[in-house]
Amino acid sequence: MSGKALNIGDQFPNFTADTSVGQIDFYDWMQDSWAILFSHPADFTPVCTTELSRVAALVPEFQRRGVKPIALSCDTVASHKGWIEDIKSFDKLSSFDYPIIADDKRELALKFNMLDKDEINAEGIPLTCRAVFVVDEKKKLRLSILYPATTGRNFDEILRVIDSLQLTQTKSVATPADWKQGGKCMVLPTVKAEDIPKLFPDGIETIEVPSGKSYLRITPQP
Ligand code: BEZ
Repeated sequence: MSGKALNIGDQFPNFTADTSVGQIDFYDWMQDSWAILFSHPADFTPVCTTELSRVAALVPEFQRRGVKPIALSCDTVASHKGWIEDIKSFDKLSSFDYPIIADDKRELALKFNMLDKDEINAEGIPLTCRAVFVVDEKKKLRLSILYPATTGRNFDEILRVIDSLQLTQTKSVATPADWKQGGKCMVLPTVKAEDIPKLFPDGIETIEVPSGKSYLRITPQP
């Protein structure tokens, strides 16, 4: 039985799990940080190795944003510990500073709907897909992405989305296509014209369009 699909804004359920750094209670482990939980099909697989090594290199970037990374793979703690040595060696990393959950019984994979029915292992069991959950300090789900096992994730993109999530939760803007930290933003459609001077004292630019509607309102990043 798989779990209920989680939507953005849902409370992310707590869980306990064995990991490469011991048993954790997810909420206690998060403390007041955000978390990125990302899943993998299996240990000692090539794409997963590149992904875990990339995240290990990006730990300072996640820390700067107050986000704690945690991986999940459907193998045991002993297997994870052996694999971590390969991951470190692959990218010549001196340390590996985040936990890997040992979901060898696929309990969390089922609970969080991470199984990919099209990717079957040698025993005929479905593998986990590459799920990404970004959870905020209130334990709310802020982002979820599902990739197939055959496509490695772009973690620069995930950092970019986290930047957008953290900016747009406090400012009356949304971030446009391909936005990057420091780039121009769009004024939220819900902002009334009379509130613009108060919210955007430096003014905004409104792009004229054939419809005559004034919805393309651009501001430097607040
Ligand atoms: C990999 O990590 O390389 C991989 C794992 C399962 C299926 C396909 C690729």
